Formats: sequence, structure tokens, C-alpha cells
Amino acid sequence: MHEQTSTAAEEIVSSARVVQDQAPDRFTVLIANAKGGCGKTTLATNLASGYAARHWPVSLLDMDPQQSADLWLQQRRRAGIDNIHGLTFPLESHTPVTQMRARIRDARDVLVIDSPAGLHGQALDQALQLSQVVLIPVLPSPIDIRAATRFLQTILLSPSYQRRPRRLAVIANRSRQRTRMYAQLNLFLNSLKIPFLTTLRDTQLYVQAVDQGKGIQELEDRRAEEDQRHWQTVMEWLEIQRQLIRSLPGFLHPR
Ligand SMILES: Nc1ncnc2c1ncn2[C@@H]1O[C@H](COP(=O)(O)OP(=O)(O)OP(=O)(O)O)[C@@H](O)[C@H]1O
Ligand SMILES: [Mg+2]
Repeated sequence: MHEQTSTAAEEIVSSARVVQDQAPDRFTVLIANAKGGCGKTTLATNLASGYAARHWPVSLLDMDPQQSADLWLQQRRRAGIDNIHGLTFPLESHTPVTQMRARIRDARDVLVIDSPAGLHGQALDQALQLSQVVLIPVLPSPIDIRAATRFLQTILLSPSYQRRPRRLAVIANRSRQRTRMYAQLNLFLNSLKIPFLTTLRDTQLYVQAVDQGKGIQELEDRRAEEDQRHWQTVMEWLEIQRQLIRSLPGFLHPR
């Protein structure tokens, strides 16, 4: 979809910017949706712990003043697991992006960003500037579907996306697959020209994992096998994007 390579001139400019970047090889995934409660933090913590479970150096940046991702990280440390580097600072539209970049200077090879509800305008643009990939969780309800449509439009029209498209993908969350609402969500997601990666089940296993400071991919529980397969799909898609970005110099580096 957005794979078009940059022109030669653009690549020269991009390469120069990449040199300025503190960590050109870092892979940054933003989890975002303006709608509250759709699963942003759930996605962020499960993704970060998925990378940690695969022994990747990973940082989790909590940009939500509610600090739910950071609370999870604290719970994780109390449980004796300390393999995710935590960063917290609120997303404020008046903070220059250069300053934000400086704050994530120490982030590891993979950076997962949890963002607040209500993200729009300049703050959204700045979050996009830090990111290469955006994952958007959507719940199966009419309000959520409408909100997701608006949010996707906002991303597509944002200045930093217009300058350089980020990779976008949608994940259906908390779905009970046999419901009429899920059928409508499925129809909507498949109609988008944006990858629809998977459908995460509505299950207490996610809540239990949070209590333990873990992600679902770390649970040694046979009941979680189906959910772990869903996450495998997400991780595989992300790995393809990461490889693609690395193999095309200057392609999609945050700026
Ligand atoms: N797949 C799921 N199955 C069961 N519960 C879930 C699932 N996904 C999220 N939840 C629960 O739904 C609630 C909202 O999820 P979460 O906090 O991840 O949303 P959010 O988008 O980060 O919310 P906010 O906009 O307030 O930051 C949480 O209590 C979470 O445990
Ligand atoms: Mg949240």
C-alpha cells in the first residue's frame, strides 16, 4: 500500500536525517486511537512483553497521564521481571519533537508507545513523527467503528503522515466472534485499505496477565494458546515491517 520507495533525491535527504537521528535502527510502534478504553494499553503492554519474551531489547513509553502502562511495568518489577525499559512523559503539543527525541534517546531497539485517549491535532502529529508503525485497536460497537473511521482519517490527513506515510494496521479487540456487532466490525475493517491483522478475544486472561505484570504471550496456561496465536500474527506482521524499513535506506525513518 504505502511501500512506494522514495525518489533518489528524497533518499539523500532522508539519509542525512537518519544520521541526525540518535538511533536510526530503532523500531518504534505507536499504539493509538482517539477513543478511550478500546485497548491501547492492553496492546502496548502485550506487545512490549511479547518482545521481551523473545529476548529483544525493548522499551515501553507511556505518554498517557493516567500512567496505566507504567503501573503495569511497576507491577511487573514487583513480580521480579525486569526486562522492559520504562519511559514516561506526557504527550504535550507544545513540547518540540526534538525535545521528545532527546527524551527517548536511551530507548532500546524496539520502542512501544502507549498514547492517551483523545489524541488529535498537533499531539497526534508529534506522536506520528516519533513512530514508524501505528497499531489501532478497535472495539466492536457502532460508536467505536465511527470513532475509528474518524481517527484513521485524521492520521491520513496529518502533516507528518502526508510527508511520509507510516505503516498502519488495525486490530479488532474484545470480540465475541459470533455476534452481529462483530460481523459489522469485520465488514468495516475488511473494507479499509489498511491491514486488519487479527481479532483479539474478550477474555479475562488479559486481565489476569495484567495482575501478574505479564502479557498474554508469557502466560503458561493452555487456555491462552489461541490468544498467543493471535499475537504471533501481530508479531510476524511487525517483523515484516521492521525488515522492510531496514532494507530501504531512509524509508520511513521517523522525522
Ligand atoms: N481483549 C480483552 N479482553 C478482556 N478485557 C480487555 C481486553 N482488552 C482490554 N480489556 C480491558 O478493557 C479495559 C480497557 O482497556 P485498556 O486500558 O487497554 O484501554 P485503553 O484504550 O488503554 O483505555 P484509555 O483510553 O483509558 O487509556 C481494561 O480494563 C482492560 O483490562
Ligand atoms: Mg490506556
